[in-house]
Amino acid sequence: MSEQWQQQAKEWVQTGDLLQATLSQPRRKDGTIAAKTVIRPVQIRGGLHYQFEYHAAGKASHDNLTEEEAAQRLVELLEQHYRQALVKTPDADVQLLFSKKGKAAILRKPPTGGSKQAAPQHNRQKQRVLEQGTAVPFLVELGIMTADGKVHDKKQDKYRQINRFLEMVTDVLPYLPEDRELTIVDFGCGKSYLTFALYHLLAVEQQRNLRIIGLDLKADVIAFCSELAEKLGYDKLTFQVGDIAQYGELEAADMVVTLHACDTATDAALAKAVGWGASVIMSVPCCQHELFRQISGDALAPILSQGLLKERFAALATDAARGTLLEAIGYKVQMLEFIDPEHTPKNLLIRAVKGNKSGVSLKKWEEYKAFRQLLSIGPSLERMLLDRLPADTPQQNAAQT
Ligand SMILES: C[S@@+](CC[C@H](N)C(=O)[O-])C[C@H]1O[C@@H](n2cnc3c(N)ncnc32)[C@H](O)[C@@H]1O
Repeated sequence: MSEQWQQQAKEWVQTGDLLQATLSQPRRKDGTIAAKTVIRPVQIRGGLHYQFEYHAAGKASHDNLTEEEAAQRLVELLEQHYRQALVKTPDADVQLLFSKKGKAAILRKPPTGGSKQAAPQHNRQKQRVLEQGTAVPFLVELGIMTADGKVHDKKQDKYRQINRFLEMVTDVLPYLPEDRELTIVDFGCGKSYLTFALYHLLAVEQQRNLRIIGLDLKADVIAFCSELAEKLGYDKLTFQVGDIAQYGELEAADMVVTLHACDTATDAALAKAVGWGASVIMSVPCCQHELFRQISGDALAPILSQGLLKERFAALATDAARGTLLEAIGYKVQMLEFIDPEHTPKNLLIRAVKGNKSGVSLKKWEEYKAFRQLLSIGPSLERMLLDRLPADTPQQNAAQT
């Protein structure tokens, strides 16, 4: 056994590159050693662990070990008990073969176990706060998890969506102030899965000083959410019935979330966020009907003559216009895939972070105007942000409906 393979084995565990390892050919055949041991990374209470699955006499038993324990156990098992190991890493499938004297031969083959991205990255692991295996009270109450922390089969998509959302929030947390109470608003919160998730992440897990307000038109969902927040003891999470465009109870907010708020309700939410000087905006638009009715242009006939293409094009154009307007007034904007498009076409998330520069970016404003002219459109958001944009008399709101 060389120092080198021991070092390598520990590194696979510590870097998260170990996707799976199968140890076989026990040195003793008297049944005191499991015929095979399979090692896989698992998430337990938000942290990376390794599960050792021992196969003996037709039964499997398990041990979940921390990184450090796993690295040590892997080396021990290979030194003392097994003569062969197949270790799948993102870069290679590596076979370790041990002679009777314990000398190791190492064979590398092309990887079959998954890409580097698929390997558990430590930073990523830390961001995934809602791990299976530990019951998260709001997920249990919302019927996503069982009381012992298992996600219901039919709720896997929702669970993934919530985690994805939290990961995307985590990336922009550095842009939020830390020295005072944060105000976060969720416009069109509906049943508020993601609002509860946000509260759980920031207030419960991270103990941040904040309040979250959810607003929706529907009195029944607001009553449901208010009751649930009370039951969970989430005292800084409140819900109100109201229309986004009419909401006037705040003077400022740090973060505005609006997920699947219909058509121009998204624009009203974006305009409120800008008006409040929100540092972070997370918006998943939905039902972009406004531009569907407006877009025209002879050269666009190949798209506009097909209903499906027109609908998709109008949705993309709506969000492109929104993004460019936000950039024009000083936000840094990213368009992200919210969840796997297999589950819903409404999967685009506009993530905007307020930049340091004040004033309008004329370059972005010109880009926006050229785009608006090309499509003969007059998006609501532009009208809502009029007092922040340069005067634009000749073409202004050319296609208002
Ligand atoms: C498709 S649901 C999305 C709910 C939740 N945000 C989510 O992503 O699961 C859209 C919600 O937006 C609400 N909504 C639509 N227009 C609104 C408006 N102008 N003001 C407040 N809420 C609105 C609806 O009542 C509905 O609950």
